[in-house]
Amino acid sequence: MKTVNIEQVKNWLMEAGEFIKESLTKTLEVKEKSNRKDLVTNIDEETQQFLIKKIQEVYPKDKILGEEQGYSTIDSLDGRIWIIDPIDGTMNFVIEQENFCIMLGIFEDGIGQLGFIYDVMRGELYWGGKELGVYRNKEKLSAPDPVDLRDGLLGFNAYMYGENVHGAKAVANASMGIRVSGCAGLEMIALLKGSHVGYISNLAPWDYAPGMVLLESFGYQSTTLTGEALSFDGREYFAAAMPENHQKIVAMFKENMTEKQRNE
Ligand code: IPD
Ligand code: CA
Ligand code: CA
Repeated sequence: MKTVNIEQVKNWLMEAGEFIKESLTKTLEVKEKSNRKDLVTNIDEETQQFLIKKIQEVYPKDKILGEEQGYSTIDSLDGRIWIIDPIDGTMNFVIEQENFCIMLGIFEDGIGQLGFIYDVMRGELYWGGKELGVYRNKEKLSAPDPVDLRDGLLGFNAYMYGENVHGAKAVANASMGIRVSGCAGLEMIALLKGSHVGYISNLAPWDYAPGMVLLESFGYQSTTLTGEALSFDGREYFAAAMPENHQKIVAMFKENMTEKQRNE
């Protein structure tokens, strides 16, 4: 299998970022997907098309899993898969014009190799992998010092907190407080920087896969709420934290679930 040229991938992401920034001066075509709060724009679609074209030119045998336009499922995790979220935080992109990321994860036979999260408006590309460690642009980052759940902030999905899904409020109350950004990529970055101690959400593979590779490299665990491996197949509940905090979070969720929910 042809080795991935990391510098080239970074250049593709930079180019995609420039395209997205330019689009902010033009009128966006905004469409609703499953409901009025689930948005997609022409720029999400065109950015994904741009990245897929680049990947397929250089790595024609590789598989693609991407949020938009019929790329959202794959038959198996075998082989090399590029997992793309062209704009993570589309609502922020449309309304705030900031606080969104381009995300890309590269997996081989289900194992995370490389992850890229590009915070376009801040000009910060977080990238790396298992063997490589984690970088912000050219600077190599160190894993944050461990902070206990009770002394740290948790990134949280607003719906899960508001509806107290599987006792989410008890988990939130065990921390210093919750933060809601509307962008999974920014939540992953907050963990990498050590400004948050955990992230609880309901995510699709393109939301968690790129960040998961970087988090793993720093010793974080990313699983379902009950500590099971993520399936890379549709949306699922997601919990990421350092092992000690992760254990506590999973234990609290398990306590609040019925036997049937725990086994789902
Ligand atoms: C969404 C964001 C959001 C998360 C949602 C995702 P999108 O991604 O990451 O923070 O709560 O579950 O769908 O749709 O803007 O790419
Ligand atoms: Ca997303
Ligand atoms: Ca998206």
